[in-house]
Amino acid sequence: MKRAIYPGSFDPVTFGHVDMIERSAKMVDELVVAVLINSAKNPLFSVKERVSMLDEITGHIPNIRITSFDGLLIDYAREVDASIIVRGLRAVTDFEYELQIAQTNRIVNSKVDTVFLTTSLEYAYLSSTIVKEVASYGGDISHFVPEQLIGRIYEKYSRE
Ligand code: PNS
Repeated sequence: MKRAIYPGSFDPVTFGHVDMIERSAKMVDELVVAVLINSAKNPLFSVKERVSMLDEITGHIPNIRITSFDGLLIDYAREVDASIIVRGLRAVTDFEYELQIAQTNRIVNSKVDTVFLTTSLEYAYLSSTIVKEVASYGGDISHFVPEQLIGRIYEKYSRE
C-alpha cells in the first residue's frame, strides 16, 4: 500500500490546503493528513479544532485519515508507515526552507521521500497567516477558506 503523509499546522485550513489534499489523495492509496501539535507556535485553533475542521471539509475524500503528531515529522512518518511526505510549494520563497527540511528528513530516514506539489495558481498567494490577518480586521475571508469554517474563524476574534 502506498501511503503518504501531508503534514502542517492548518491554523486554519485554507483552500490551498484543500487543493493539496485533494490532489495528493489521488496519487496514493492512503493519505494521512497530520496536524502538528506545537504549543510553541501559539496557534489560534486547538489541535482538536484543527482536526475537526479537516475532518469536516474532507468528508468527500474516501482514502484519507486525519491525525495529529508531536515531535519529528520523519519519526511520525515511520510510525504511520508512510513512504512519502507531501509538501506544497507556492513560490520560490518556500523552496529554500522546504529543501533544507526535505534533505534533513532524508538523511534521518532515506526510506521516506518528500514530494513537492506546486500549489494551484489561484491559491499561490494564500497562507493561514494571511487568513488570520484579514479575519482579525473583520475582512472578507470567503475567497480563502471553505464556507463552513468562516464563522469559526471570526468567532476567535470576536471573543477578544
Ligand atoms: O503548515 P506548516 O506550518 O508549514 O507545517 C510545518 C511542518 C508541520 C511540516 C513542520 O514544522 C514539521 O514537520 N514540524 C515537526 C518537527 C520536524 O520534523 N521538523 C523538521 C526537521 S528539522
